[in-house]
Amino acid sequence: MKNFSYHIPTRFVFGRGVEAEAGPQVRELGATKALIVYGGGSAVRSGLIGRVEASLDGAGVAHVALGGVKPNPRDVLVYEGIELVRREGVDCILAVGGGSVIDTGKAIAHGSCYDGDFWDFFCGKAKPERTLPVGAVLTMAAAGSESSNSCVITQEATKTKRGLRTELNRPRFALLNPELPMTLPPYQIACGATDILAHIMERYFTGEADVDLTDRLCEGAMLAVIRAARVAVKDPHDYDAQCQLMWGSTIAHNDTLAVGRTQDWGSHQIEHELSALYDVPHGAGLAVVFPAWMRYHMEKNVMRFAQFAVRVYGCGMDFEHPEKTALRGIEAHEAFLRDIGMPVTLRELGARPEDIPALAAHTKKTNPDGTTGGVFPMTPADIEAILRLADR
Ligand code: NZQ
Ligand code: ZN
Repeated sequence: MKNFSYHIPTRFVFGRGVEAEAGPQVRELGATKALIVYGGGSAVRSGLIGRVEASLDGAGVAHVALGGVKPNPRDVLVYEGIELVRREGVDCILAVGGGSVIDTGKAIAHGSCYDGDFWDFFCGKAKPERTLPVGAVLTMAAAGSESSNSCVITQEATKTKRGLRTELNRPRFALLNPELPMTLPPYQIACGATDILAHIMERYFTGEADVDLTDRLCEGAMLAVIRAARVAVKDPHDYDAQCQLMWGSTIAHNDTLAVGRTQDWGSHQIEHELSALYDVPHGAGLAVVFPAWMRYHMEKNVMRFAQFAVRVYGCGMDFEHPEKTALRGIEAHEAFLRDIGMPVTLRELGARPEDIPALAAHTKKTNPDGTTGGVFPMTPADIEAILRLADR
């Protein structure tokens, strides 16, 4: 296990009706004027925005609002938000939505404390040094942005989707009401569950050998999320299943499960190219990329992939041919994804095979030598081969 330093400054308030805590929580931060950020309208239609505003009013916190965040959130609205913050003297961001809304809120928070272009942080030109406090009212279990150190924005003009990792990204509080995602279409619930699992798997397929405790935490969380996802896509009103998914989303991506491990994140970088170019949900893109990534790399650490097959999908271990066990685990994962309604091929996603070379070339290089991925570094040729595996 590697050395680590770990601090999560996020307060979690979990349960029915916790959006009523928005006002008191903002107040506790010492803020006096909040910018409420929300999406395309689901939070207005459900009455959630009204309840949040009432809570802020009750706590004596002034507020202005910025709606219209699109999935795979764009830079354009971030610029608008930064201007609004400066014009209105806002001192806190309250994001009411899923990952796209929370990430927009985070980017506005960083950008409004910076004299240059906020995109500098996303293209690696500058590092944020200050930010405004961000609170989140989570409406869907998926991205984990409610306590992650990450933020992902798309530059609309170039279709470049890039993530920024900094501890400044961690929200100060997250209000988690598992009833809120009950209004999501099952497809979106499935996308969310796929993303949650992918966040655990990016950590699970580590290069570290002696990480039994975090292996077991990851496996337990994956088992619970798989079970809850099967229930919630059939019955979005199942409160217990929504509870598992919502807390699962949060712990899957704030490192609770996986401190001290090398992590990969190559699949995520490849997926970001798909959702940037085709504007598909991030979870659906991962359903296509992850199994192909597993097939491509499994032989480099076959026992770890076999362990995943045995412990997460209950496959029998073939000691003579562990690669067969590993492959059965990948097939079982793919079968699960199909069961919950996810695409598993590029064509099902609506991607064009002729775009593969450009997608591979444009994928973010995360290592100093120009490769991508922390455990299994990939060249553009490797990425192209993985996308070809997904093109069935
Ligand atoms: O815009 P509205 O009308 O609210 O509709 C949204 C949107 O269309 C809808 N929705 C959300 N809550 C709902 C609801 N509809 C009905 N009832 C509700 N309660 O769901 C749609 C998708 O929302 P979005 O926020 O895009 O989904 P998600 O949470 O999956 O976020 C995806 C984004 O997060 C990024 C992804 O790349 C993508 O851009 N990620 C962010 C991460 C982070 N910051 O840590 C990590 C992830 O790996 C991921 O990359
Ligand atoms: Zn993700």
